Amino acid sequence: MSDPTATLPRILVVEDEPLIVRSLNEVLKTRYRLQLAVSGEEALATAISSTPDLILLDIGLPDQDGYEVCRKLQGNSATRDIPVIFLTSRHENSEILRGFEVGGKDYVLKDASVMVLMARIDTHLLIYRQQTALVAALEQNRMQNEKMSSLGQLAAGVAHEINSPLGYISSNLQVMAEYFAKIVRFDQIRQLSGAGELSPEARELIATSRESLEIEHIMADGVNLVNESLQGVVTTTKIVQELKHFARMDRLEQEPVALTSCLESALTIGHNELKYVATIRTEYESRQEVLCHPGQLSQVFLNLLVNAGQAIAGPKMGEIVLRSWHDDVCVYASVSDTGAGMSEEIRGRIFDPFYTTKEVGKGTGLGLSISSDIITKHHGKIVVESVVGVGTTFTVKLPRVKERP
Ligand SMILES: Nc1ncnc2c1ncn2[C@@H]1O[C@H](COP(=O)(O)OP(=O)(O)OP(=O)(O)O)[C@@H](O)[C@H]1O
Ligand SMILES: [Mg+2]
Repeated sequence: MSDPTATLPRILVVEDEPLIVRSLNEVLKTRYRLQLAVSGEEALATAISSTPDLILLDIGLPDQDGYEVCRKLQGNSATRDIPVIFLTSRHENSEILRGFEVGGKDYVLKDASVMVLMARIDTHLLIYRQQTALVAALEQNRMQNEKMSSLGQLAAGVAHEINSPLGYISSNLQVMAEYFAKIVRFDQIRQLSGAGELSPEARELIATSRESLEIEHIMADGVNLVNESLQGVVTTTKIVQELKHFARMDRLEQEPVALTSCLESALTIGHNELKYVATIRTEYESRQEVLCHPGQLSQVFLNLLVNAGQAIAGPKMGEIVLRSWHDDVCVYASVSDTGAGMSEEIRGRIFDPFYTTKEVGKGTGLGLSISSDIITKHHGKIVVESVVGVGTTFTVKLPRVKERP
């Protein structure tokens, strides 16, 4: 049978006085699920392991005072947000204020009525629930935004890259259709001229038709058109394959993939944005594999490439260099640009979410923050070197497949 109290809010009561514990237990157990701790140490251990929804904290504990416990709860990321209500028999304002200073959300005097205690508990439980829901909604929003902006970027780049081969394949096919009509016409003329030995007039007609229908030219050019169109098909096929790479973004399982191939797929997708601002050079010295979500790493490199292009944007073409190399333990990939560079102050903030120096509408300030999250989740590091007016290099370092524990 399921536990009927399972959905009740969980409260950790930290109190060492058995009589008070008993009376609190009596009045609170019908509305809350209670856990008990009788010392500061026990309170901290229980709070960390079970993260209750609220803590009722006595000030006079045997091993350390409640203020100290509250400060430690505040210093731990697992317990920092849990509301703490001090339970005290001390009436002095200075004591009460001290409780707020160390991070307590409220205080209740031990001689207060049960109704007051419950009203305070319920108020803080409600605020805590709303706050948690708000944080979750903001995070969801942040991810959604990032998804939309990178999808938009991808869609625009890919549309352009696929459009130009499709454009010439289509015009080649139109020309081929005209050529074909002329060949059919020429064949009809030949048929009409009869079989066997041709008369001089018929030979003359065939020769002039051959010239006016440009049969020689069609023979030579037709092959070129077919070859060029086949090349276009190869290009679009490659783009579609790289897109599949990005589509694997949400797969749960990591897989061993050469880091360089993530660079390459980012370059295929980002090429359209970059080709007007920079020449691109690749110096791949390593094909070592890393255990990864290849789509996510490709997205990191796409962010770095787009940033590099935007840092260059100016009247003069710049240069972007992609490198890869490895040592015994790690594989490295870097993106260098000859763009504007950044000051030390900017450099210190670029990985913060929503930090951007770009005009409204151009940058969301999420590219590097998301990239750094992705690299951290892959047990790697991303570092930057930059000189104002000279350029910037971002280097991504990831453990080699065989080195992973
Ligand atoms: N290669 C670079 N050269 C110079 N500055 C850079 C470079 N890469 C990033 N920056 C700086 O870091 C800031 C943050 O970059 P980030 O990619 O996180 O956001 P963004 O590019 O501004 O917006 P978006 O969310 O569209 O990527 C940029 O606004 C820019 O000031
Ligand atoms: Mg960016």
